[in-house]
Order: sequence, then C-alpha cells, then structure tokens
Amino acid sequence: MKTYIRWMQLCFIVSMIFLKYDPCLAEVLFHSGGGGDCGGCHTIHSSSDPMTAGVSGSQFEGNVYLLMGSDPSSTCLNCHQNEGETAPSSYHVSTADANMAAGSPPVQLTPGGDFGWLKKNYSWVPEVGFATETSSGERHGHNIIAGDFGYVQDSTHTVAPGGTYPSANLHCSSCHDPHGQYRRNSEGTITVSGKPIKGSGSYSSSADPDDNFAVGVYRLLGGVGYTPRSLGTNAFVNGPPAAVAPDIYNRTEATAQTRVAYGRDMSEWCVNCHSSYLGATHLHPAGNSARMDVTIADNYNSYIKTGDLSGSVANSYLSLVPFEEGVHDHTVVSYNQLKAHARSDDSFLMGTDNNRSNVSCITCHRAHASGWDGAGRYNFKSEFVTVINASGIAAYPDPSINPEVAMGRTAVETQKAYYDRPAAKFGVYQRTLCNKCHAKD
Ligand code: HEC
Ligand code: HEC
Ligand code: HEC
Ligand code: HEC
Ligand code: HEC
Ligand code: HEC
Repeated sequence: MKTYIRWMQLCFIVSMIFLKYDPCLAEVLFHSGGGGDCGGCHTIHSSSDPMTAGVSGSQFEGNVYLLMGSDPSSTCLNCHQNEGETAPSSYHVSTADANMAAGSPPVQLTPGGDFGWLKKNYSWVPEVGFATETSSGERHGHNIIAGDFGYVQDSTHTVAPGGTYPSANLHCSSCHDPHGQYRRNSEGTITVSGKPIKGSGSYSSSADPDDNFAVGVYRLLGGVGYTPRSLGTNAFVNGPPAAVAPDIYNRTEATAQTRVAYGRDMSEWCVNCHSSYLGATHLHPAGNSARMDVTIADNYNSYIKTGDLSGSVANSYLSLVPFEEGVHDHTVVSYNQLKAHARSDDSFLMGTDNNRSNVSCITCHRAHASGWDGAGRYNFKSEFVTVINASGIAAYPDPSINPEVAMGRTAVETQKAYYDRPAAKFGVYQRTLCNKCHAKD
C-alpha cells in the first residue's frame, strides 16, 4: 500500500511537471490545433476512464466531467493565466488579481483581450457637483464563469443581448471547442471529423491542410452544431471565421502594431449567440455584406489622426479599427492571402484597397474583454481619446485633471487599454475612432 501511495505521489509530481505545461515551457504545444492531451484538462489519475464520468456528467472529486478546475473555464485558466506575470506572455489571456492592483491594468495584450478587465470597476465624478458615474467591470466584456479565479456570472445581462444564450453557462468552452474537433480541409470545407488534424491553422506560419491532413479552425472556435454537452441547447448555426493571427500576437503595440488578418464570417459567428444583431435592429452595419464603400474606404485610408487626413492606402491600417478583407472562402488560396497579411512588425499596413473589405463586430469590439464598456476597442463613451497636458503635448487623460475623459482610469490604464500606443501617435484631443471611417473630425 505504502509503495502504491509513493508511486501515486511520484506519478502526481510527474504529471504536474508534464501535464501542467508550465509557462516556462511555453514553446510546448498543447492543443496543436485539435484536442489536447486529455490529462491536461481531465484528472486522469482519479479514474482510468475519463469517458465514463464524462458521459453521466457526474461529480468526481467535486468537479463535473472530471475536470482539473472546478468548472470548464477554471480548467482553461489553469494554463491560460499565470500568477506573477507583469508583461504579455504568449497564450495567456488573463492577469492574476495580485498583478493588477488598483490603478494598474491587466497586462496581456492579445487580440481577444485580457479577461482581467472584468474585475476593474471604475467610478468618477465628471465635474464638481455632478453625480458619480460608473463603469463596472462586468460591462467590459464576456463574463466567463471561472470560480477558481474569481470570475463570476454577469449580474445584469441574463442572456446574450440580441439572443438567448444563457449567461449562467458562459464559459471559454461556449466559444472554443475544448476538444478541438472542427477542422479546415484542403478542399476549403470545415468538418468535425475526417482527415486528422496535423496542427494549428491559426497562424501565418501554420502549415496548409493537404490531401492527408486537416488543420484546426481559427482559434479552435466552435463550428456549425457546436454546443457544450453541459448546455445542450443554443447550438451554433454559423461556422468559424476565416482569419489568421501573426505568430507573435500577445505583445505591446508601443512601436509596431499586431495585425490579425480577418477574412470573413466573424460577425456571422458572433450572431450564433447575438442572433438579432445582424439586421436592421443593431446600431451599425456589420457582416460579410457590410462593405466599406468608396467614401468609407477613402476615409479609412487617408485618416491618420484628428486633423491629419494625409495618409495613404499603403500605411493606413490601425489595429484599433480592423476590418475584414472579404476573402471568399476557406480555401488555401484565401488563407495564403491572410497569412501574408498577418504581421506584428508593421511590414504590412495596407488599408482597404480592393473594394471588398467589410465592417465586422470585431471592427469595434474585442472578443474577450477590453478596458472599455461593451468590450470596445476604444472608449465608445468618450468624445476624446487624448487630451493636452501641462507641457502642451498629447497625453492620456489624468483622472484628477480630466475626470470626464479619464472615466476613473489612470493614464497608465488608458494607455494599456490602447495596447500601449503612445498618446503622441494620436495627437492632442484625438476624437473618437469612429472617425477612422467617417472622418467627421
Ligand atoms: C482543453 C481542455 C480539454 C481537453 C484537452 C480535453 N477535454 Fe474533455 N472536456 C473539457 C471540458 C471543458 C468539458 C466540459 C464540456 C461541457 O461543459 O459540456 C469536457 C467534457 C468531456 C466529456 C463529456 C462531455 C462530452 O463532450 O462528451 C468527455 C467524454 C471528455 N471531455 C473526454 C475527453 C477526452 C477523451 C479527451 C482527450 C482525447 C479530452 N476530453 C480532452 C475539456 C477538455
Ligand atoms: C495544459 C495546459 C492548457 C490547458 C488546460 C488549456 N490550454 Fe489552451 N493552450 C495551451 C498552450 C500551451 C497553447 C499554445 C500552443 C497550442 O496552441 O497548442 C494554447 C493555445 C490555445 C488557443 C489557441 C490555439 C490555436 O491554435 O489558435 C486557444 C483558443 C486555447 N488554448 C483555448 C483553450 C481553452 C478554451 C481551454 C479550456 C477548455 C484551454 N485552452 C485549456 C495550454 C492549455
Ligand atoms: C464569446 C466568445 C469567447 C469566449 C467566451 C472566449 N473566447 Fe477566446 N477567443 C474568441 C475569439 C473570437 C478569439 C479570436 C480573437 C481575435 O483574433 O480577434 C479568441 C482568441 C483566443 C485566444 C488567442 C489569443 C487572443 O486572445 O486573441 C486564446 C488563447 C483564447 N481565446 C482562450 C480563451 C480562454 C482561455 C477563454 C476563457 C477564459 C476564452 N478564450 C473565452 C472567443 C471567445
Ligand atoms: C457562445 C455565445 C456567445 C458568442 C459566440 C458571442 N457572445 Fe457576446 N455575449 C454572450 C453573452 C451570454 C453575453 C452576456 C453576458 C456578458 O455580457 O458577460 C454577451 C455579451 C456581449 C457584449 C456586451 C458586453 C457588456 O457587458 O457590455 C458584447 C459587446 C458582445 N457580447 C460582443 C460579442 C462579439 C463581438 C462576439 C463575436 C466575436 C460575441 N459577442 C460572441 C454570448 C456570446
Ligand atoms: C461600428 C462599431 C460597431 C460594430 C460594427 C458593432 N458594434 Fe456592438 N456596439 C457598438 C457600440 C458603440 C456599443 C455601445 C452603445 C450601444 O449599446 O448602443 C455596442 C454595444 C454592443 C452590445 C451591448 C448591448 C447592450 O445591450 O449592452 C453588444 C452585445 C454588441 N454591441 C454586439 C455586437 C455584435 C454581435 C456585432 C456584430 C454583429 C456588433 N456589436 C457590431 C459598436 C459596434
Ligand atoms: C471600419 C469602418 C467603420 C467604422 C470604424 C465605423 N463605421 Fe459607421 N459605417 C461604416 C459603413 C461601411 C457604413 C454603411 C455605409 C455608409 O453609410 O456609407 C456605416 C454607417 C454608419 C451610420 C449610418 C447607419 C445607417 O443605418 O444609415 C452611422 C450613424 C454610423 N456608421 C456611425 C458610426 C459610429 C458611431 C461609429 C463608431 C462607434 C462608426 N460608425 C464606426 C463604416 C464604419
């Protein structure tokens, strides 16, 4: 018995080392575009057969489906958050509470955004004598429920606005298929089975699918028919988007921007849950058919910042206002176009030059969370992005000097919410970034 326990302890330590995928081993692949090692998410040492408990959904060691965390999202954050981090790190999408004290922002800068913003509650008095205003953390994005990491259900939206997806079931696995079954084939089809997945299909350096192998769909996102077993309803009707991320995607944009090449179908994918938002009822056109016409495209390409419309198509891309390129399909040819455009060194800053680009939900929102209400890529609620400081140069607003613009955020938090972009790249009194396309100011 003693030897058995010893062996189990050793086994546990070894599994901690090899299955926990310590971030210092960040190069290690886990999902590789498909289903990762079962043991990374399920407690295999508690049962020889994770499938059995999974089928009944019974509790084991307190966790449904034998998960490593007390719920699906906590299981993901075991690897996707790492306490102690003070800078962007690879595939991490959440900052630990200890690393974002009051006044300090979450640190991950992925395209989807750091969920830590959901824990940042702001309040401010815009002008002396005015009532206090607030921007509560839960307004900053998708409130995934991850009990082990202090993330709780949204208290106001009980379902997805414009749809019926229950907030009580909002997990990482609501959007991402943890078993990574959806795959992109060389024929341009997306299927749940068929050719084996050879690797991720998300990156500019990802291998192409071929006659024998498929690749994972963009970011392991759920495809047609997807719903977690624990929910069983609200199955997706639209497939994953065509998009490609640059190889290095979690990084400061202080000098060069991170450009995800969005191709098509992101809005269509979002409305799997926000079903009535692709029509006349939402405030703004979005989707594959929401083309940027000549006027809008010209605005985008010439707009650099408030008061400066001297840009050209070759250098006009702004990651705070991305667009979809309007590629036709999921074929290798279309992905090769996207792969050539997904960069994080400013080597491809082309604006909209083909009359095919379109507005998407992702043009204005981040998929996870952001520093602003409504998961905005920029502050939808303020007319200004920057102000002027005492030395007469562009600066992010100071909560005590410009309370109505700062909205409770420190200048450091605001800069982080703009992915470290220096205020000087905008200029003084930069107006809202709706102007990138509408050029009213
Ligand atoms: C990235 C994390 C992850 C990996 C890797 C993973 N699972 Fe899961 N698994 C989950 C989550 C999360 C759920 C709960 C989904 C839900 O809420 O219904 C789950 C549920 C299940 C279920 C029950 C529900 C269902 O979907 O049928 C089974 C069975 C299962 N997993 C088997 C496996 C096997 C076998 C492997 C390895 C081949 C594996 N899992 C790998 C995260 C993972
Ligand atoms: C055992 C550690 C581990 C767990 C648990 C884990 N991940 Fe990951 N995840 C990684 C690593 C490492 C990478 C980067 C390498 C890769 O993609 O294989 C990654 C990458 C990803 C990516 C990008 C993949 C791509 O190809 O674009 C997504 C999306 C993702 N994880 C979602 C999840 C979700 C959702 C869960 C929970 C259901 C989860 N992960 C659980 C370690 C983990
Ligand atoms: C509402 C849907 C949704 C939820 C919930 C969600 N994701 Fe994502 N995730 C996305 C989308 C869409 C992208 C692609 C974003 C882009 O490229 O702009 C993404 C991207 C990612 C990436 C790549 C890095 C990045 O941020 O761009 C990782 C890793 C990831 N998600 C992990 C997770 C984990 C872990 C959770 C839960 C803690 C989670 N996601 C919850 C939709 C979601
Ligand atoms: C799996 C279902 C699901 C998908 C897919 C999904 N959402 Fe959501 N979304 C929800 C739910 C549920 C809520 C309400 C709970 C919350 O706000 O946390 C929500 C809330 C929101 C909010 C309001 C945030 C706030 O609190 O003000 C925005 C904005 C949003 N989603 C945008 C998007 C975008 C953009 C996409 C596609 C990239 C997307 N959603 C995809 C389920 C989803
Ligand atoms: C041109 C920018 C823009 C586009 C494109 C856009 N949104 Fe929004 N969205 C906003 C703004 C601004 C707000 C906040 C003001 C408001 O609620 O009307 C918002 C609010 C939301 C909310 C919160 C509503 C609430 O009741 O709290 C959701 C959910 C949402 N958007 C989802 C989407 C989805 C899904 C798409 C794509 C189909 C999309 N948005 C496209 C700018 C945009
Ligand atoms: C990526 C480009 C882009 C951005 C950014 C953008 N728009 Fe638009 N907007 C369009 C396009 C394209 C149309 C539809 C064609 C047109 O009106 O020329 C449009 C139309 C509109 C309309 C007219 C809608 C109608 O039904 O007639 C309004 C109002 C509007 N946008 C406001 C905004 C606001 C507010 C923001 C910022 C939250 C914003 N836009 C950001 C591209 C954009």
